[in-house]
Parts: sequence; C-alpha cells; structure tokens
Amino acid sequence: MSDSLAATIKRVKEKLTKEAVSSLLDEALLVSKLLGPKSEFGNISKEIATLSKDEKQQIGTLLNECKREVLQAIQKRTTKNTEKEEWFDVSTPGQRPPIGHLHIVTQAITDITRIFERIGFTRVRHPEIDTDWYAFESLNMPPDHPARDEWETFFIQSPITNNQSPTKRKIVLTPHTSNGQVREMEKGNLPIRMINIAKCYRRQSDISHVPMFHQFEGMYIDKNVSIGHLKGFIDYFVKQYFGPERKSRLRPFHFQFTEPSFEVDITCGICNGTSILPNGGDCKLCKGGWLELAGSGMIHPNVLKNGGVDPSKYSGFAIGWGVERTAMMKSGTKLDDIRLLYSNDLQFLEQF
Ligand code: DAH
Repeated sequence: MSDSLAATIKRVKEKLTKEAVSSLLDEALLVSKLLGPKSEFGNISKEIATLSKDEKQQIGTLLNECKREVLQAIQKRTTKNTEKEEWFDVSTPGQRPPIGHLHIVTQAITDITRIFERIGFTRVRHPEIDTDWYAFESLNMPPDHPARDEWETFFIQSPITNNQSPTKRKIVLTPHTSNGQVREMEKGNLPIRMINIAKCYRRQSDISHVPMFHQFEGMYIDKNVSIGHLKGFIDYFVKQYFGPERKSRLRPFHFQFTEPSFEVDITCGICNGTSILPNGGDCKLCKGGWLELAGSGMIHPNVLKNGGVDPSKYSGFAIGWGVERTAMMKSGTKLDDIRLLYSNDLQFLEQF
C-alpha cells in the first residue's frame, strides 16, 4: 500500500512540476491549485491519514519533500513570468528617435551653391587629389617659387611615371580649390561661370586650422570682364548670404594667379562695422569693423594661357574662400577651436 502510494506521490510531483513551469496563473492561485486541500496532493494527504503510524511518518515526509519541490518550481517560474508579464501602458507614446540634421558645413555649401545658381553659376567638381601642375604651376607658380610656401601642402609619393614634366607627375592633396581654374578652362566652353566647392588639405592643425577643410572658388571668364563684375559678384553674395545690411570692400593684395589681386572684407555682423559694441566695449570678432572673407582678383594672363584661353580676347575674375570660416561668420560664432567642427561632438553640432 505505502509503496504504491509513494510511487503515486512521485508521479504526481513530476506532473505538477511540469504544470507549475508552464502555467500562466499567478503565484497564489497556482499554489492553491497545485498544493491546496483540493489538489491531488490534498487527496493523497487524506489517504495518508488511514496509514499506520510508521507508514504515516515515512510517506508524510516524502509528501512534504515533493510538495516543497513543486512549490520551488512555482516560485522560480513566478519570478521569471512576472518579469515577462510586467504591465505597461500600451497607449503611452513611444520614445521618438532623435532627428538629425545636416552638418553646418554641408548647410553652408548648399546655401552658397543655391545663391550662385540664381545668377547662372554652376557648381562643378574638380579633383581633390591633383597634380602639382594644376595646384601650383599652371597658376603662375613655377617650381621653387617662394609664393608656394603659403600653402602647407601634402605631397603624395605618386606611382605615376610618364614622360611629362615633374610638376605634371607630382601629386598633391589640393591645398586650395584654385586647382579647378585651369581644369575648367581646358573644357573649352566659354564663357565660364564656375563655382567649385571641394575639400582642401593643409599641414596645419591648431585652434584656427584643420588639416581638412572646404573652399569655395568662383570664376567668371568672358569678353570684357572687369573689376566691376567682381565687386558686383561679391556684393550680391554678401547681401544674400549674410544679410542686406552687410557691406564689402576690396583691399589690394598679392596672389601669383591674379593681377590685380585683392582681399575681400565684409562689415562685421556683431558690431555692424563700427568695431564698438552696443555696451561701449571693443568688438572682439573683427578688426576695426571688418572681417576678412576671401582672396580674389582678375585672372593673370599666364593662367588664362595655361588654360588655353586667349588673354587678348578674354578676361575674368576668380575668388576663393573658406567655407567653414564663412559659416562661422554668418552665425556670429567665434569658435574657441575650429577643430570642434570635425570632432563629432553632438552637443556642439546640435546647436546649428
Ligand atoms: N586660393 C587662394 C587661397 O587658398 C584663395 C584665392 C585667392 C582664390 C585669389 C582665388 C583668387 O581665386 O583669385 O588662399
């Protein structure tokens, strides 16, 4: 009798343990269902009452052990299942993924492109890795010319071997977008209204320089192009990009590839060109009310010749400036460190 009862208890235990694991009932209900007085174990308890004293003790101990095992199975399962079934409000709005935006420099490139498109200038692309010829020599800077020193150039050990002159073989990471000038002329389509925006590289990295930055090159070649056209081109851009109240001026300068050459300044947006702040203090962003924007000039006849354009028939202007600087000038931000632009710091970038 007691042997068969012991076997029944073990079988029931196996069965109830399985049920405990798979059941979705909450803990209290399951305990009463599997271990309560009306459960199979409850019925067995009643049978035990009819056994002899010795058997009662033996089978009673077994029953208690089995009940404990089933209880443990219930408790284990309940901790797991409550985690799974934790209640949540399905009508709560989800967390929106953060929405990104274009990098400030990309925004500036798009703005600049759109502004010049409106007066018939087309954005073109020229190589950012180019020969010394296009970056320097064709721009009236023969090998060893001291003017080259201004551009802290990365030269590449190039695998190109041909019979051309050394400067046509030597490869550089373009230190300015002016390499596009002669390349554009070589296309042979006159008149030319070009904007070339590209990455440039210089061996410089400090608070006001990054080794990779962007430049913008405007070039117009046609018959009878004069400094008046250049000034009109600059004024148009300055008012469109920075605002109608901003003024520009040309300051005589020297570049090998233009004659005459100028630096372009615009009035400061912080002090409105007065160099004095509304609170009476000195403006720290500009020099005497002016900010330096670009380099420019009338294209040197040698450069036109190098591009196959006859300087006795055609003339043109060219202008080049840094996109990062221009974007900063618009937002009126004086960055403590221009390298921040490319450090992928979201807290910084999200401001623009
Ligand atoms: N390429 C010059 C620079 O990187 C800027 C420049 C000056 C471009 C005069 C021009 C120009 O087209 O006419 O500093």
